[in-house]
This record gives sequence, C-alpha cells and structure tokens, in this order.
Amino acid sequence: MIQRKILVTSALPYANGSIHLGHMVEHIQTDIWVRFQKLRGHQCHYCCADDTHGTPIMLAAEKQNLTPEALIEKVHAEHLADFGGFYIGYDNYYSTHSPENQQLSEQIYLALKANGKIESRTIAQLFDPEKHMFLPDRFVKGECPKCRARDQYGDNCEVCGTTYAPTELINPYSAVSGAAPVLKESEHFFFKLGECADFLKQWTAGSTTLSDGRTRPHLQPEALNKMKEWLHPGENGEGGLADWDISRDAPYFGFEIPGAPGKYFYVWLDAPVGYMASFKNLCSRIGLDYGEYFQAGSQTEMYHFIGKDILYFHALFWPAMLEFSGHRTPTGVFAHGFLTVDGQKMSKSRGTFITARSYLEQGLNPEWMRYYIAAKLNSRIEDIDLNLNDFTARVNSDLVGKYINIAARAAGFIAKRFEGRLKNVSGSPLLQQLAAQSETIAADYETREYARALREIMALADAVNEYVDSNKPWDLAKQEGQGERLHQVCSELINAFAMLTAYLAPVLPQTAQNAALFLNLPEITWDNTRGLLPENHTINPYRHLMQRVEQKQVDNLIKANKPSIQTAANPDTAAAPDGRYEKVAAQAGFDDFLKIDMRVAKVLNCQAVEGSTKLLRFDLDFGFEQRVIFSGIAGSYPNPTELNGRMVVAVANFAPRKMAKFGVSEGMILSAAGTDGKLRLLDVHEGAQPGDKVG
Ligand code: MSP
Ligand code: ZN
Repeated sequence: MIQRKILVTSALPYANGSIHLGHMVEHIQTDIWVRFQKLRGHQCHYCCADDTHGTPIMLAAEKQNLTPEALIEKVHAEHLADFGGFYIGYDNYYSTHSPENQQLSEQIYLALKANGKIESRTIAQLFDPEKHMFLPDRFVKGECPKCRARDQYGDNCEVCGTTYAPTELINPYSAVSGAAPVLKESEHFFFKLGECADFLKQWTAGSTTLSDGRTRPHLQPEALNKMKEWLHPGENGEGGLADWDISRDAPYFGFEIPGAPGKYFYVWLDAPVGYMASFKNLCSRIGLDYGEYFQAGSQTEMYHFIGKDILYFHALFWPAMLEFSGHRTPTGVFAHGFLTVDGQKMSKSRGTFITARSYLEQGLNPEWMRYYIAAKLNSRIEDIDLNLNDFTARVNSDLVGKYINIAARAAGFIAKRFEGRLKNVSGSPLLQQLAAQSETIAADYETREYARALREIMALADAVNEYVDSNKPWDLAKQEGQGERLHQVCSELINAFAMLTAYLAPVLPQTAQNAALFLNLPEITWDNTRGLLPENHTINPYRHLMQRVEQKQVDNLIKANKPSIQTAANPDTAAAPDGRYEKVAAQAGFDDFLKIDMRVAKVLNCQAVEGSTKLLRFDLDFGFEQRVIFSGIAGSYPNPTELNGRMVVAVANFAPRKMAKFGVSEGMILSAAGTDGKLRLLDVHEGAQPGDKVG
C-alpha cells in the first residue's frame, strides 16, 4: 500500500459564537473522513482553529467588558470542549491569533506584494463619527433604497432581496452607536484578483492525480459551475473578478500590515492562513516537515471541508493567495450544504438553534448525532435536514436494533457455554458476504458518500440479523447435542459484529473503542472489515454498548434551546440573523384581545423628564379627555418635541400607575421593539381622529 500524506481542515469557527449543530455537520463530516484515512493506515493530519479577528469580535469583547484576547481565550476553551464532546479528533485545534499565523500572513502578503499583486487605492467608506471607526456593511442599517423597508443591513434588503452598497441606504445609521455615518476617505490595499483570472479558470476546472493513480477534481461539479459565473463576465460585462480589499483601518482586532501603521489585515486574509499556522504549530510539536506540505509542487494532499457560504473564499481567493505567494494549492475543496431542523432554517425562537453544549448537557449520546448526520451526507452541496422524529427512529432501529443487538444476542452464550472462546469460523458464507464489501464501502467513505456507505453497512447488518432469526441460538441452546452448532453460530455472530464495528468505526469512534475492549482487541482497524478474529481468541464479558434514544430527551433538547422570555426580549442577547425575532407569546383568545382598549391619541406636548434618562412625558388628547402618559422611549427619541402633533396608539384602560417621583401615568403608548435596541412609535394613517378605537 502507498501511504498517502494528507492534511485536512474544517472551516475555522468564529470566536464570538457558540458551536451549534450546523458547525457539527461540518466537523463530523471531516472527522469521519480523517478517521477513515487513519484506519486505512494513511498519514492524515486534521487541523483547525478559532477564527479570532475582525470587527464583530472586537465589538463583542467590548460589550462583555473583556479584552479581545480574553474573549477569544474563553471561547477557545468552550469550542474545544464542545468539539471534544462529539469526539472530533483534531490533531491540532489552534487560534488565528498566534505568532505562526502572524508570521505566515505577513510572509504571504509580502510575497504577493513582491509579485506585483498588491495595489493601494484611496476609497471612501461610511465612518461612525461617534465611535471613530469605519463601519463594515453589516454594521450600517437604514431604509432599503428600493422598497423603503426600515432597518435593513448595509449589504442587502431582507424584505425585497435587493443588494446594494451601504452608501445607498436611506437615513443610514450606525448599528454600533446609532449615529448617522459620514463618508470618509482612507487608503486601502487590494489583492489584484482580476490578474489571477487565468490561473483561477484553470485551477477551478482542474484536478490532481494522487499517488495511488486516482484523479480527483479540485471542486465539486456544482461548485465549479458557481465559480464559472464569477470567473466569466456575462454578456453585459457584469460578474467577473473584482480586486479584493484586504486591509482595514484601526481600530481593528487583527494583525497590523507590515510597513503600514494603523492598517490591519482583513480577517478573511489571515483566516485561511490559519490552516497553515495550525499545521505549522503541529509540525513543531510532533516533528513533521512543514515545508514538504506547503512548498509549491508538494506531493502531499490538502483538503478543506467548508460550508457552501464560504466557497468564494476557498475556491478563488485562497488558491490565488497560495499560488501567487509561491505555495502549493489545495488538492480539493469539499463544500457541504446547510443543516435545517424539521425542514426549516435553525431558529432560536423555535428552539431549533441547537448548540453542541445543550445537546451534551441533556445527556444525549454524541454518536447518535454523528450517525444520523452521516446517514444524510453525500458528496454534493445539498442542505441536510435533521428531522427530530426520524432521528429517534433511525438511531434506535439502525444502531441499537440492528447493530448493537448482534453482540448482545451472541455474547452471553459465548461467555456462559464456551468460556469466552471463539470457534474457527473460516469459510462462513455470512462472513464472506460481509468481508466482500470492504473495498466498496471504503470507496464510499473516500468519496464522502457516507449515506450510501451506511445503507450498505445496514444491509449487511440486516443479513446478519436474518441469520440470527433463521438459526435461533436461543433454541439451539436448549437442544441436546447442538452445542457445536451453537458455538459456530455465536462465533460467526461475534465475528460479524467485529466486522460491522470496523465498518462503522469512522462514524462511531467511542463505540469502536468500547467494542475493542469487549472483543479483546488492542484496536479496530479497517483490516477488521475483512479479517476474522483468530481461532481460540477469547472475548471479554459483554457490557451494553449503547442505549436507545428516548423521545423525552429530544423534547428536552428543544426546550433547553428555547430562549426564556427575558432573553428573547432583550435585544442585546437576540443575535442576528438566526435569532432575530422574539418568541411569539402563548396563544390568546379574541376575548383576551377585547379586554385591552386601544385608542388613537394626539401628542399635544412631548418632553424629556428631568431626572430620568428613560422616560418621556406625553400630554395626549384622547378625544374624550386629555391624559398624561410616561413612556420609556427617551433613548430612541433624542428630540422629543419633534413628536408634537403626531398621532400615537395607546392602551386606554390600564389602571393609572405612579411612576416613582415623576407623576401618574394614565395608560401605555405602543411602540415596536427593534432588535437593534430601538423603540419606534406606531404610526396611524392620515384621517384617524383622537379617540378612535384600535382593533
Ligand atoms: N470563520 C469563517 C470561516 C473561516 S475559514 C478560513 C466562518 N465561520 S462560521 O463560524 O460562521 O462558520 C464555520 C463553518 O460552519 C462554515 O463552513 C459554515 O458554512 C458552517 N456552518 C455554519 N452554519 C451552518 C449550518 N447551519 N449548516 C452547516 N454548516 C454551517 O464562516
Ligand atoms: Zn427592500
């Protein structure tokens, strides 16, 4: 066998968020592939890291009153524990905030510069005059220039789907401070990607022939098609490769660009270099030759497992960065689709934004999720759905019902009747049938057709269970003179179990390890898929290897991920984009609704309240009478007198309430609570009169 030398990565998770099941899809997919390669005897190194730089992390740290360094350290420990809990077996899980990464990022940048691939240009960008910082698109909000929907992000409108530049927003404001941003010029560095087009056309459509003679395309067919859209300008000249802005101005959490004080590498420049840095760190720890892997023309293999949302970076920017800085390029980029839960995008309010931590804390077995996800994965870029009923049914029927039970049914007889010793079972047609699939299933793992691999493995488990049913060891055990036959059948079953364990070992590493103890083997390797246990081999007493999933555990998992009313109502903790909406309140009847009497009222006078930063005092005309209402919206309306003369909507039948020392409030004015923390009064169309009933 030719031993392959392989470096494998998963995308680096951002260091300001928790690991969720979406991340787990990727790391489980990668881990299975890596474990498979190692079981086959190849030299395979799995490297990952936290992606620690950029504006969101800088601001998240500030919000938590931490330095960015302290935040990323805290999150690193959490991420490690979460991934470890799912048995993700990295050889190194590092950080992009590392000396190796700084040195390599600088080196790549300087090489690109020496190669004439870096250019500086002055551009104008939106700047927050209060925070004294340039605003990334996502931190500018305002009205959509097309449909005028309010509170849209600076890059695209979630209501009508238009994409635009942040400077096109109407009434833009900074999501950091609320201030109106101003345009400000600054010098930026660009990577001249346009000049790399010829190389990229070639690379994206290209393939590598491996040491075993197999040819593998760099990209999946769907990914290649996507890249073609980007690489080949359309008839109207749209599309095509734009140069890439790789610098950001201080304040920024990242690496300062050599020779350019106050300028920092954009996070996406140093993030993929983080793959190299993590590997370099591993090399120095275990004495590997880093140069062998990254020099141009390297014979080693390098694969990146990523989600479909970051293909652009991995299939265009990254190969170009490597190529034009004198390094090897990736052997393959493997993109996967997104995880949905019960057919929908993961959602915090529905409790389906399931964190890795919550799953582990509920005591669910991580191998259940590994198996379920693997049973849905293939080599294409398709979204995969976690159906929670299907999850329970599938795990219980396949893993416990078909696989684990084989051992459970045979082990007792071997222990009680034959002192744990196995009989020679060479020539068993059943075992030959199992062994015959070894290369087919290996090819499925190799090509990431995990769903197919598991279908084939479960078909073998079905064959074994049919064998159990037709030979009925429990009957043989009761019959005179059937001892030999019982020994034969049970020894075949234990061997079959060992083979199935080896087939499943990439997916179920912990069970494989426990099964190795039971089978009295030092470890399970791929050879166990086709080899028999030695004659007279003794096995150890059986201890149950896996429990069934209980529906209650899955219900609790959803409960644990539902935000409490308090956190949902607190805009600080409601994160975009998946958890932007507050949970819908418990069902109410029309009768409940009728109890609240809402009326249109005219603002006669609105003013700040001395001694309160929150309250505004409204003198209102309700038509039938005048009232005073205090409303806690001062933070959202810095100029209260602007509201004079407006119509508002207010609850008119609340009992009057004393507002500390400020006076009595005779009702409540309605406003919408935005996830940006702002409160906005409701508007009534022209013609409405004070006192009109709302309903
Ligand atoms: N930090 C960047 C990656 C830098 S790689 C040099 C990033 N981080 S991320 O935390 O947002 O996402 C990490 C990976 O998780 C990405 O590959 C992303 O596609 C994947 N997923 C995030 N949500 C996902 C799902 N719901 N489903 C499947 N994968 C998902 O992007
Ligand atoms: Zn719009």
